[in-house]
Amino acid sequence: MLIPTSILISFLLLFPITEAKVSQLDEEAHALLLTAWWSNQHNISNRCNWPGIRCNNAGSITEITSPPRKNYDTNNSSKDIDFSVFSNLVHLDLSGMQLYGFPKGLSGLKKLEFLNLSHNNLKDEPGFLSSLANLTQLLVLDLSYNYIGGQIPNEFSMLERLVTLNLSTNLFSGTIPLVLSHMSNLIYMNLSSNQLIGDLPTTLFTNLSNLETLDLSLNRFSGLIPQEIGNLTNLLTLDLSLNNFVGPIPDQVGYLNRLTTLNLDSNSINGSIPSSIGLLSHLEVLNIKDNQVGGFIPNELEHLVHLKALDLSYNGILGVIPKWISNLTQLDDIRLSGNQISGYIPSTILVHISHVDLSTNKLIGNVPFQISNVSYLDVSYNNLAGPIPEQIGYSNQLTVLHLDSNFFNGSIPSSIGLLAQIEMLTMGHNKIDGCIPIEMEHLFHLKGLDLSWNRFSGVIPSGLFVHPTLVDLSINNLSGSIPSIIGKNLSLLDLSYNNFSGNIPKGLDSVQSYNLECNPFLNGDYHYCQTQQNQSEYHKNNHNKGLSTLVWVLIIVASVLFSFGSIGIGICVLFARHSRRKLKVMTEKHGDLFSIWNYDGKIAFEDIVEATEDFHIRYCTGTGAYGSVYKAELPSGKTIALKKLHKTESENPSFYKSFCNEVKVLTEIRHRNIIKLYGYCMHNRCMFLVYE
Ligand SMILES: *[C@@H]1O[C@H](CO)[C@@H](O)[C@H](O)[C@H]1NC(C)=O
Ligand SMILES: *[C@@H]1O[C@H](CO)[C@@H](O)[C@H](O)[C@H]1NC(C)=O
Ligand SMILES: *[C@@H]1O[C@H](CO)[C@@H](O)[C@H](O)[C@H]1NC(C)=O
Ligand SMILES: *[C@@H]1O[C@H](CO)[C@@H](O)[C@H](O)[C@H]1NC(C)=O
Ligand SMILES: *[C@@H]1O[C@H](CO)[C@@H](O)[C@H](O)[C@H]1NC(C)=O
Ligand SMILES: *[C@@H]1O[C@H](CO)[C@@H](O)[C@H](O)[C@H]1NC(C)=O
Ligand SMILES: *[C@@H]1O[C@H](CO)[C@@H](O)[C@H](O)[C@H]1NC(C)=O
Ligand SMILES: *[C@@H]1O[C@H](CO)[C@@H](O)[C@H](O)[C@H]1NC(C)=O
Ligand SMILES: *[C@@H]1O[C@H](CO)[C@@H](O)[C@H](O)[C@H]1NC(C)=O
Ligand SMILES: *[C@@H]1O[C@H](CO)[C@@H](O)[C@H](O)[C@H]1NC(C)=O
Ligand SMILES: *[C@@H]1O[C@H](CO)[C@@H](O)[C@H](O)[C@H]1NC(C)=O
Ligand SMILES: *[C@@H]1O[C@H](CO)[C@@H](O)[C@H](O)[C@H]1NC(C)=O
Repeated sequence: MLIPTSILISFLLLFPITEAKVSQLDEEAHALLLTAWWSNQHNISNRCNWPGIRCNNAGSITEITSPPRKNYDTNNSSKDIDFSVFSNLVHLDLSGMQLYGFPKGLSGLKKLEFLNLSHNNLKDEPGFLSSLANLTQLLVLDLSYNYIGGQIPNEFSMLERLVTLNLSTNLFSGTIPLVLSHMSNLIYMNLSSNQLIGDLPTTLFTNLSNLETLDLSLNRFSGLIPQEIGNLTNLLTLDLSLNNFVGPIPDQVGYLNRLTTLNLDSNSINGSIPSSIGLLSHLEVLNIKDNQVGGFIPNELEHLVHLKALDLSYNGILGVIPKWISNLTQLDDIRLSGNQISGYIPSTILVHISHVDLSTNKLIGNVPFQISNVSYLDVSYNNLAGPIPEQIGYSNQLTVLHLDSNFFNGSIPSSIGLLAQIEMLTMGHNKIDGCIPIEMEHLFHLKGLDLSWNRFSGVIPSGLFVHPTLVDLSINNLSGSIPSIIGKNLSLLDLSYNNFSGNIPKGLDSVQSYNLECNPFLNGDYHYCQTQQNQSEYHKNNHNKGLSTLVWVLIIVASVLFSFGSIGIGICVLFARHSRRKLKVMTEKHGDLFSIWNYDGKIAFEDIVEATEDFHIRYCTGTGAYGSVYKAELPSGKTIALKKLHKTESENPSFYKSFCNEVKVLTEIRHRNIIKLYGYCMHNRCMFLVYE
């Protein structure tokens, strides 16, 4: 039970304090009761000890932090309170309180240094934000994760002491006000995930010299990246990803010698990688994927000894994979797919040869290699050639390896069986021959295996289907019988266009979709080859990459997967698919192909259409080369990001169905750099992906 105010007042009067203070403390107590956020607290005179409340020596409240969720009334209760009564308040955190309107009286809090209103349902209320200009003592302002739209008010520039400004994940639009350049104490500025447009004001870079973090990602900024970027010499993190920046990366980035993260992903940046990036000796993450960057990988990058993740995929990078890459011993994640890189995979990329110290170095057999730390290597869709190096097997941290759509030849080295962590292995669309090594049975964590469109021959190892979920061996010369041991996880199996013989194993019934088409010697009705091109023709010119629209669709999809979020994220390159396949028909929802998972099963296509008003431009938060990004709030209250592709080839339902399955499996792979993909959808001719 709450103590009636009259008792409270008389209680307070017992203490030798001035009348003025009594009435002020009384007002504070009264306001606190009105919030009803502490309805489980019964002793108002003890309020300074309530969770989230702090007082000064005089008993006046200086700090209010959202009480634990279960304790507060969600019924818009803060609306009635005038926060200005808390005149000594220094710290106010009302994050995640389900506020629908801004709390009243905030602008009167002259001593306020910290204000956190993130994760609410706040929308722009005319005049409110500009009234915050009165909070001249403010050091931290966090309004992120709301629905606040309109311009960023000029009045913010009066918050001269401000150190942290987090406006991310709102609906702010228009340009960055020039006067923000006055906030010279800013150390952290995050405007990501809004609808901001225009060129970046250069004064922002010349004046905010204390900035350590600048995140402008997922907006619609355009124009050149100003040379003045080089004046932010304290920057640790620079994220300009998912915008419409054009032109080259300015040489001046080389001045940012404290930088650890540089993310330029998904813009229209061209030119070549400036060698000055090699001066960024603290750099850990370099992401330039999905731009139009050409030229060679500059040798100066050799000096980036702290680099952990390098993503240059989907550009026009030429030349070879530099040998020195093996000297970057921290490098764990290398993504170079979708470029025009040629030459061989340097064997040192995978194995770092160190001074031999037998007491500390790990040995494999008699080979004194120190094991490489690379766990993710994607060089797919390039012009690489030659055999797959035998050293590959010594890179035993690898979880994902994409070699597909290159010109690799020779056979798979048996050392492949040493890749104990490998989950995804794709080598499709190459010229690899020989047998599938029996050692591949030992890849216990393997989920996806793509060896399609190669020249493999011989018999499949009998245990190959035990562990993986997806296996594509189509368009090869494999023969013998289909292994009868089928793992319970196997859900997609493509053996089409081979020379298998004998009976179909019973175990295949448990496989969700399989394709045995065009195996003339198989018992059953599998001799029919639907395409004009027969198998040998495939083998003759099996490398028509870049010509097949299907492959391009997959490149697009893969690049979309890659292009989300900040560092080194993405799923994997998807299996290039032969489009004609027999697949079990699965349930279709509302006549549209649709697949969503990981989402408590509560999401529906209609919800997405509704939440975005059929992909209305209003919900679009950015457009890139391949698609547009939308932000949508579902009826469940959850906010998701959607990336809708501009174009797709959607004539063949079974292609998409199998594609569905593949993406599903890919999302289940656990890798620390993979973001959560909730699902994707094909609808009429539109195709989109749903992210957290
Ligand atoms: C209420 O809190 C005050 C101050 O801590 C304390 O002196 C008093 O005994 C408490 N009253 C009750 C009923 O617990
Ligand atoms: C919120 O209001 C509804 C109806 O007005 C009421 O049923 C509910 O109990 C209230 N919630 C709380 C936590 O008091
Ligand atoms: C709070 O107020 C907003 C708008 O004023 C309304 O949409 C919402 O349903 C209210 N929430 C509750 C829990 O009453
Ligand atoms: C604001 O609150 C949210 C949610 O509690 C928290 O994640 C965030 O770190 C807080 N912001 C600051 C600047 O402390
Ligand atoms: C801002 O402060 C000025 C002077 O201190 C005051 O007159 C004005 O009412 C305040 N504005 C708001 C919105 O509180
Ligand atoms: C906003 O940015 C600050 C500064 O980095 C951070 O502490 C805070 O957690 C961010 N807010 C949210 C809701 O993540
Ligand atoms: C840059 O900072 C200087 C000094 O702090 C200030 O006088 C000037 O107005 C600022 N420029 C802009 C565009 O804010
Ligand atoms: C900026 O905010 C977004 C959304 O809250 C967050 O995901 C991102 O990590 C923040 N950026 C930085 C550099 O802190
Ligand atoms: C910006 O950097 C350039 C070159 O480093 C320098 O000449 C110039 O003085 C700097 N401008 C400011 C305002 O610091
Ligand atoms: C780079 O892009 C800019 C702006 O779109 C264009 O003017 C320039 O010609 C391009 N440069 C190259 C080398 O393609
Ligand atoms: C790697 O670094 C060592 C020592 O700095 C150097 O001798 C060697 O040439 C480098 N290797 C390559 C391929 O650059
Ligand atoms: C692998 O990473 C660990 C920890 O970051 C490091 O100590 C070790 O030297 C690295 N190994 C190689 C071969 O680079």
